[in-house]
Amino acid sequence: METKTRENWSSKAGFILAAAGSAIGLGNIWKFPYSVGTNGGGAYVAVYLLFLVLIGTPLMLAAITLGRKTQLSVFGAYKSIDKRWSFVGFLAVICGFVILAFYSSVGGWVLYYFKNAVMGNLNTKDPKVLAGIFSNMMNSPATLIVYQLIFMALTMLIVINGIKKGIEVTSKVMMPGLFILLIIIAIRSVTLEGSMEGIKFLLVPDFSKITLEVAKNAMAQVFFSLSIGMGVMITYGSYLDKEVNLLSTAVSIPALDTLAALIAGFATIPAVFALGFEVGEGPGLMFITLPAVFASMPLGQIFCIAFFLMVTFAALTSSMSMLEISVSYFVDELKKDRKKSTLAVGIVIFLMGIPASLSLVQGSSFYIGSLSFFDIYDKLSSNILLTTGAFLLSIFVAWILTTKEAVKEIELSGIRFKLAPVWSFLVKYVVPIGVFIILFNSYKDFIIALLN
Ligand code: TRP
Repeated sequence: METKTRENWSSKAGFILAAAGSAIGLGNIWKFPYSVGTNGGGAYVAVYLLFLVLIGTPLMLAAITLGRKTQLSVFGAYKSIDKRWSFVGFLAVICGFVILAFYSSVGGWVLYYFKNAVMGNLNTKDPKVLAGIFSNMMNSPATLIVYQLIFMALTMLIVINGIKKGIEVTSKVMMPGLFILLIIIAIRSVTLEGSMEGIKFLLVPDFSKITLEVAKNAMAQVFFSLSIGMGVMITYGSYLDKEVNLLSTAVSIPALDTLAALIAGFATIPAVFALGFEVGEGPGLMFITLPAVFASMPLGQIFCIAFFLMVTFAALTSSMSMLEISVSYFVDELKKDRKKSTLAVGIVIFLMGIPASLSLVQGSSFYIGSLSFFDIYDKLSSNILLTTGAFLLSIFVAWILTTKEAVKEIELSGIRFKLAPVWSFLVKYVVPIGVFIILFNSYKDFIIALLN
């Protein structure tokens, strides 16, 4: 009898949904719109799209290919090809801890808003009232921590129950739902009176606004949003069958992910202008603005409840992919028990997350230099760790595995990779050099901010 040692995705669609489930999360719905607002609008969007095409998508293909070729998760994948590269696995584990420590804080906000939506507390268009609800939450340590704990507990529950059941089923139902809902909200947002200003802000790039800072944030956002740089896509790719067309897969995920981010942008930014909110609001933008959009819709409360529920699921399919990476290190490499590892890792991440949440409370002393713990985790994970991971991924696939081997793996499914020379050129030169320039500046700025 044939024994299968590794479970594969039940279908290619299952993999795409799960990978898209990891990619599409708070990064798209919460972070992208507010980053557009704080980084100058259309210029940021343009740079984001440029990096997405030249750097993010080629790296997505590199990651999935590396995973499927080795049939191993991130630790094994690097190690099996070159032992000296095992440290990339550690980097991934650390990165998983840091991202989830603040991601779970925001996940908690979403849960809190879900509860308030159910109770009908968000049903107003008044910017002052909505800003008040958000700042009350921010200034209540107990609320922040309790909801963060619930979010972490849900994430742990899913991870304990194993990869396929948890990830695939959840993604299959929730992703399409989220898309439909976002489109409806975006339609309402762009048809509000006075939304034109916001549409222009989003679409018309003011090129004088492109600074190194904007480029740095856009690149970090590409990696964060695509879940690239800490091995999620390597691990997911390792579950793919040899017949699967890696090319179309590696293009669909970034395409879906970017579509989700752009629709979320259209749902949020035009409404900001139409309803009198602040576009540079920062992390509160979605929470303050969207309830007002719901309040201007028929059946608004139902949409509001459905929205925060779906965002909860989108956040969970992302958070479980992060936790999964760290847990699988303990399970696969150190041969620990899955349940115990998940509990231990989850609790440590939750404890690390407490200062992130508390640093948001007014007058908090959880600061190092000019950065709150929340910002430190955010910047450390995206600008430093993910960007470093992405840099190493490109070097590894281009020069250690070699693009020639990668192209062979890609063509295993019987397709011809016509753009192979272009892709090779990108991962060998454009990606590492581009990422290195940004990375250098990120390290510099991060250290300066910590010292200030
Ligand atoms: N991409 C997810 C989002 O946009 C976040 C995420 C999940 C992630 N897994 C990751 C980011 C791994 C970096 C690495 O919300």
